Amino acid sequence: MQGGDLSEEVFAKFREFIYKVAGIQIPETKKVMVANRLRRRLRATGIDDFAGYFTFLTSPSGPLEMPLFLNEFTTNETYFYRYIHHFDWLNEEFFLQIAEQGRLRKRPRTLRIWSAASSTGEELYSIALRLQPLRQLFSGWTITLLGTDLSTATLDSARAGVYDERAVRHVSPPERTRYFDHDPRTQRWTIKEEIRNQTTWKSHNLMRPLIEEPFDCIFIKNVLIYFDTKSKQAVTRHLLKSLAPAGYLVVGPTEGIYNMLEPLEKRRPWLYQNASH
Ligand SMILES: C[S@@+](CC[C@H](N)C(=O)[O-])C[C@H]1O[C@@H](n2cnc3c(N)ncnc32)[C@H](O)[C@@H]1O
Repeated sequence: MQGGDLSEEVFAKFREFIYKVAGIQIPETKKVMVANRLRRRLRATGIDDFAGYFTFLTSPSGPLEMPLFLNEFTTNETYFYRYIHHFDWLNEEFFLQIAEQGRLRKRPRTLRIWSAASSTGEELYSIALRLQPLRQLFSGWTITLLGTDLSTATLDSARAGVYDERAVRHVSPPERTRYFDHDPRTQRWTIKEEIRNQTTWKSHNLMRPLIEEPFDCIFIKNVLIYFDTKSKQAVTRHLLKSLAPAGYLVVGPTEGIYNMLEPLEKRRPWLYQNASH
């Protein structure tokens, strides 16, 4: 088998490295899983053993390999309208509130939303779909819908916007007809260009600050579960810096950061608002 056995020493080096670059903690019990995933990279790069691959990854040629390496260690499970109440809140309250503030000239006519671990794009496109029926309230506005992820493979899928039945299972028939093209042969749903053109995708590691204008709403869901407290704290610090005054943070149930959000005001168990104006 390519690579032979993964020694404890080299396994420890990879675990430490993944933690350092991505904040992700790989349990000590996952040696076989790590070895199997690394083997795919050994085959792709033609490197014979794990130690040699580690040397390559951390050499000056490593940065080109890094996204492909990290793709092996991220969990990308997602689907449209995951926790539907987050999206109901968008069109029942958030968008209306923002539009009204703009109408009263209490805020500039800009709206910025960030899906901070967007995976293959379902989260950001769900946000975009909820905005469409209210679009006329935002005529003349500059709207930014940004999706970022560490994994470049997921970003490529997000840009393409092609989904299977499972991913769109909570999308209503009228929305499917209006915003997707269906290919009966492959049973796949492609999000229309009109929606794709409203979104922007970018590679970003949550362990670093995002150099962008602040956001009126940030979604952070189903990503920090594998992070330890120190990494969660670093990510939370960066997210809070990216939140506009009065901006909202939508937090997934498994993030484990509720106790790190005290500068914000709790509006719902999963919704926090920046109280600084
Ligand atoms: C399970 S998906 C979550 C997708 C979506 N937010 C949801 O709730 O359905 C987790 C995503 O987090 C990304 N990720 C993991 N570590 C990251 C990091 N340090 N920076 C940015 N994204 C990261 C993974 O690549 C993966 O696509």
